[in-house]
Amino acid sequence: MYDKDKIILIGSDHGGFEVKQHIVGKLEAEGYKVKDYGTDSEESVDYPDYIHPVAHGINTGQYERGIILCGSGNGAQMTANKYRYVRAGLAWNNEIAKLARQHNDANILALPGRFISKEDAWQLVLTFLETDFEGERHQRRVEKMDNIKH
Ligand code: RB5
Repeated sequence: MYDKDKIILIGSDHGGFEVKQHIVGKLEAEGYKVKDYGTDSEESVDYPDYIHPVAHGINTGQYERGIILCGSGNGAQMTANKYRYVRAGLAWNNEIAKLARQHNDANILALPGRFISKEDAWQLVLTFLETDFEGERHQRRVEKMDNIKH
């Protein structure tokens, strides 16, 4: 069970707006604390503007978990993964969300708002929050993500 006193960051463009609203409502109803960076309507916006605040908050270490959405999930995920200490995992089914935590220690969940139902999105969020990183060989692999060739 994720510590409900820890604030969860969330951000989305218009493509994920409806699903984001559902997730925020469910999280708050379950007693989680949420910091919602928008967007606040279906009006077309640029996804990086709503993803950067989430990724920044995780990258600084001030917050532990974030949720980001756009239509496909890819623009959101790619933006967030620019940050050194962010590991944003794109998930569209429960097993992938679970593996993003167990194997990749994902600290941000990226969701494709136009390709999953609100109900499925909520299940993915619960899995993301409640699944632990397995460490061991996966810790070594996660550390090797930094072995960038320049
Ligand atoms: C917006 O039309 C769409 O491009 C955006 O939501 C996202 O899918 C980008 O990756």
